[in-house]
Order: sequence, then structure tokens, then C-alpha cells
Amino acid sequence: MALFPIRTFGDPVLRTVAERIDEVTSAVERLVDDMLETMYDAPGVGLAAPQIGVSKAIFVADIGDGPFAMINPEIVELSGEWVWDEGCLSVPERFWPITRPAFARARGIDLSGAEVEQSGDELMGRVLQHEIDHLNGMLLLEHLGRRAKKQALRDLRQEALGMPTSP
Ligand code: NI
Repeated sequence: MALFPIRTFGDPVLRTVAERIDEVTSAVERLVDDMLETMYDAPGVGLAAPQIGVSKAIFVADIGDGPFAMINPEIVELSGEWVWDEGCLSVPERFWPITRPAFARARGIDLSGAEVEQSGDELMGRVLQHEIDHLNGMLLLEHLGRRAKKQALRDLRQEALGMPTSP
């Protein structure tokens, strides 16, 4: 296992649609191990491969009841609505109240190559949506309202220049 640096806002890999994985090879298994180690070290509850610079459609997560990985995942069902102070390891130490569907169901394949579904409300639903967004080259900022997004982008750019951000 190996720890990887986590790519942050501004890195083009985070805006790139990840490639689907054709076959679950030992390299994919190693990637999952490395992603889990990196996620737990951060610490975070989910991590998508592009966040360690690998543009492949795979994410790992553990919301407290054990780790899992999903390969080529897609959202197949969404319902309800939930507001949560959402953050992202690629936009460190920032949280925004973001409204998304409360429930999500995702379908993909697991490390044995079998089709698998993961679903849940609230945190689980949020993690599934957030990680699958990463695989589509999207960050949580895309879910902010126009004004909040503008402010967030301004803050992040100032931060990148080492300038103080607004309160
Ligand atoms: Ni994230």
C-alpha cells in the first residue's frame, strides 16, 4: 500500500471525465488499496481515483461501516432532498451547505468483477453522489448557487495566491 498526495482544486485531472475500467486486474486491486490508505490517512469518508491523479472510474468509501470500492459506478436512482455541510479532500478545509437528493442508489462492479449496488440516505447518499461527480470531472462547487460559487472561486483563487480570504 502507498499513500498518495491528494490533488486539489485547479488540477486539471479533477475536471476530466474518468475512463471506464474494462477489467479488474491486480493493478486495479492495488489502486484500491492505495486509495483506501490515502482516504483513511486524510481522513475522509470517500475518495475517487482522479483525486490521486488517476483518471479511472473508481472510487472508495467508508462511512463507518466498512470500506467498499465501486468500479464504473452510475447513479440509477435519486430521491428526496437533504441539505448538508459538504466538503471535499480536493478543496481542503472548506464546507458549504449543499442541497442534493437525500437518497441515492448507484450501480457498478466490485473487485470480484460482479455487478453491485450501493444505496442509502443522507451521508451514504451524499458520498455516492459526490464521488461519482468526481468521476465525471465535477467538484462540489458546481452544486453551489451562482453567488456562493462566485465567492468560493474568488476565495480559492486568493488562497492560491497566498492572500487572505474573506470571512
Ligand atoms: Ni471530493
